[in-house]
Amino acid sequence: MRKHIVAGNWKMNNTFNEADDLLNSIMEQLEEKELPRDTQVIVCPPFPFLEMTSDYANDSYFMVGAQNVSDQEKGAYTGEVSAAMLESMEIDYCIVGHSERRAYYGETNKTVAAKVDQLLKHGLKPIVCVGEVLEEREANRQFEVVKQQVEEGLFHLDAEHLQQVVIAYEPVWAIGTGKTATPEQAQEIHHYIRTLLAQKYGDAVANEISILYGGSCKPSNAKELFACPDIDGGLIGGASLKAEDFIGIVTAF
Ligand code: 13P
Repeated sequence: MRKHIVAGNWKMNNTFNEADDLLNSIMEQLEEKELPRDTQVIVCPPFPFLEMTSDYANDSYFMVGAQNVSDQEKGAYTGEVSAAMLESMEIDYCIVGHSERRAYYGETNKTVAAKVDQLLKHGLKPIVCVGEVLEEREANRQFEVVKQQVEEGLFHLDAEHLQQVVIAYEPVWAIGTGKTATPEQAQEIHHYIRTLLAQKYGDAVANEISILYGGSCKPSNAKELFACPDIDGGLIGGASLKAEDFIGIVTAF
């Protein structure tokens, strides 16, 4: 069975001491909980805090993710961080194609595909974000948009590599807006994504891929979202910055 995953995307938040305090609180509260064995908690801090976060990592339920990676192997790319660097720090996951990177830094499906390749080459698991903006939703184009993102970002992979990937459906109109997709809206797209995967790779592979929901997910709505058959957890922004809220979501399965 596929894993249940809650991943916290801290985005560009917290200073060193704040990050340390937040990690301490998260770990303290996590240790008090008995998580089901198939649950995985991932924290994706900014690059400077990866090392302190990986001090808490264990092989069972707490893992570390980066928020971005270069699409190049190495060399004269000032300011970039390579997959080989992340691999050498034993980072497990990396977010790719977040809508903020697509909107503000010109990341395309082609860049996403190149970053996915870099990560897989270095043994990291990509968390690939897809999702439509408000105008696309209003024009009922969400299926077409998500299909293109999934196909162009992932369908060059063989089945073995695809199975290392986690997909996050994050409708852009729900990110940081307090406006969550309804469980029905989210389930509809998650099911659609799984159908696309099944058509290309077969049911067995499609059923192994965790598909997370992201967009104003909080303790109060996580339970009903996670109860949907094709929603395998969440990629959490704002609510991952407060230990209590984050743990509230982690325990919502
Ligand atoms: P919020 O949870 O703040 O809406 O952000 C979601 C997100 O973008 C996670 O990657």
